[in-house]
Amino acid sequence: MPEFPLAELTLNELSWRQRDLRLTQLYDWPEPTFRHESGLVMVWQYDDVKEVLEAARPEISNANSLDPLVGYPRIMATPGAIPPFLRHLVPLPAKATANLADEDLHKSVWDAMAGPTGHFTVAADARPAREQEVHGHFAAELDRFPAQGRLDVTALSIAFAARVTGSAVGLQPADWPRVAVWSGAQSGLLGRKQRGRELVDAVEGLGQLFSVSARTVRGADGERTFASRLQQSGIPHRVAVSAMANSLAAGVHTIAGTIQQGVQRLLDNPDRSWWSALKDPAGARRVASRIVQLDPGLVAWKRRITKPVTLSSGTRLEKGQVLALFAGANRDPKAFGDPYDLDSRGKLPLTFGFGRHVCPGKQLANLAIEVFLQDLHAAAPDAKLVDTPGTRGRDLLFSGADVTIVV
Ligand code: HEM
Repeated sequence: MPEFPLAELTLNELSWRQRDLRLTQLYDWPEPTFRHESGLVMVWQYDDVKEVLEAARPEISNANSLDPLVGYPRIMATPGAIPPFLRHLVPLPAKATANLADEDLHKSVWDAMAGPTGHFTVAADARPAREQEVHGHFAAELDRFPAQGRLDVTALSIAFAARVTGSAVGLQPADWPRVAVWSGAQSGLLGRKQRGRELVDAVEGLGQLFSVSARTVRGADGERTFASRLQQSGIPHRVAVSAMANSLAAGVHTIAGTIQQGVQRLLDNPDRSWWSALKDPAGARRVASRIVQLDPGLVAWKRRITKPVTLSSGTRLEKGQVLALFAGANRDPKAFGDPYDLDSRGKLPLTFGFGRHVCPGKQLANLAIEVFLQDLHAAAPDAKLVDTPGTRGRDLLFSGADVTIVV
């Protein structure tokens, strides 16, 4: 039997062509699940991923969604990690979003973020102003990079995403550049098997994220900020701090990774028709939404099976942790025509999750990705990719690409 396409390598280590190939090969695998050496059982079929993410059945729990991949005992057994842990993370942060079980409290938090008038909601009448704001973020960050020659798209996309997320969440501008480091810390804890120095730095970064969030929530000033919105919704202080920290952590490498992988796909392809389509707003919207489907910066998400369960498709899951691979589900031939054809149709991609916990930053993320691609094309229509050899780390959840262009 051939090897399972994602047994050894994670998507973060692959080029866009290899990602396309291996994610398509998932559908040749004779079973609907695969037990990965991390101990997580992978699922990738559209209906299974949707049902697992929705976690509507009592046997499927979201309680482990934000647990570090190495587990808390490993952190507590790493001497250097204990001081930052005690300094910033004790008492333990409250559950507020992806791993919260209390449905009523979760609904108040989610509505404050993404209900009809939620803080991250991009209402149709507010879209032109939000769009201008995001174009402004791109221009401000592009200005900080050398005007001629080579452009490090990976660094630019991270700085841009940190600025978009930091400002949406209401952090002081002085803190925006550090958001990327903190968000990287949380992403690393979730998706990587960290050890030693790397683990210590990640705990320190995550700790700072919570400390700055607590400061920002305490400083809520009645203006239309995220902190004030949480306060006005009657959300307890500690829960508000976690909602803010989780949003900051969630926004950066997800947006930036999608942009990086998308730019690699658009420019490395001899047929540059998707790249050229970015020149008009309607084309940019179509291309961006297909990039979000095919190249998400977050490729999978965790759930826990508390009792053996048979999903609606017949797929059987035993007790233990599951990894719902939405990057795979977004290519399921049963759900999508030809995903590489921009005119093809299909079901709703699962990039932003499904059900109660569906991503509250979805509209903002889509807008940011669309604006970045459009503005990069406008700034460098004849851009060419520079070969950037080198390897990216193993990561079960997050994925990006090292992209430099000649402008
Ligand atoms: C391309 C970018 C993004 C992707 C792929 C993404 C993906 C996801 C996914 C899959 C979930 C579901 C988690 C679950 O079911 O437990 C989620 C939840 C969440 N996302 Fe995003 N996200 C993105 C951008 C953002 C941004 C920009 C923000 C904040 C401004 C954000 C904030 C959150 C929060 C707070 C949750 C937890 C929601 C809850 O549990 O109710 N995300 N995201």
